[in-house]
Amino acid sequence: MNSLDGFELVEANASDTDEIINLMVLAYEDDEMWKYTFQKVPYYGRFRFFYEYNSARNMMEDVTCFKISEKATGKMVAYTALQYPWTIRPLSPELKIALSSLDPLAGLPLTPKGFRMDDRMGTHVLPEYQRQGLGSWLTRHCNSIADEHQAKTYVAAGCKSRGMFKALGFKRFGVFNPHAERWGQEYDAEKAKYELLVREPKDLKTVDDYEQ
Ligand SMILES: CC(C)(COP(=O)(O)OP(=O)(O)OC[C@H]1O[C@@H](n2cnc3c(N)ncnc32)[C@H](O)[C@@H]1OP(=O)(O)O)[C@@H](O)C(=O)NCCC(=O)NCCS
Repeated sequence: MNSLDGFELVEANASDTDEIINLMVLAYEDDEMWKYTFQKVPYYGRFRFFYEYNSARNMMEDVTCFKISEKATGKMVAYTALQYPWTIRPLSPELKIALSSLDPLAGLPLTPKGFRMDDRMGTHVLPEYQRQGLGSWLTRHCNSIADEHQAKTYVAAGCKSRGMFKALGFKRFGVFNPHAERWGQEYDAEKAKYELLVREPKDLKTVDDYEQ
């Protein structure tokens, strides 16, 4: 039996928001960048932060969230959010207004304005379920959607996810360095860096293909 047989991958909806945010907080517990960012911020503060900045965006019409639940318990153990290309899901007048009024996290030291250009807007697996292939499953699922639409996918990948994304077709084009070392030697500057990765769709059609 495949180890993924005990799990199911389906679309998430607004009623999953609290579980998604809880999952993010727990998954980032030992992340090198978030560790120094949050430092002494307790669980509730972390939850509120992600709730405020992620939940509204994740539920907008150009984004679909996918979750993986454990069949035996019904527990959500992993999720990801995928922003679809604007050509497939054009911005409605309502979404334009909503997006233009979102705080782009400009006040935070680690996320300068413009950093959130990723189409994969978060991929998180509960710590005790990591390294079982769930993150790769979500990524393969999103890759097949991107291929279907002949769309590129961007992601800002932390030290735990770089290997996974690169193994599944993403390539590095830049790096975001939050300079964790400024906080002291207990922070690993290399691990705190986020690599900016892009994946070209499979069988990408070029201008030449159309001219034939
Ligand atoms: C990154 C994450 C989503 C990967 O999910 P996962 O289900 O553990 O991934 P998989 O089991 O499919 O593993 C695929 C690969 O991811 C990489 N990986 C997973 N956990 C890792 C870790 N702790 N350290 C380094 N690489 C890791 C490895 O390359 C792994 O392949 P391998 O097991 O053959 O070495 C998960 O570790 C997580 O939620 N991390 C915290 C949140 C986070 O960093 N999210 C990504 C933001 S861009």
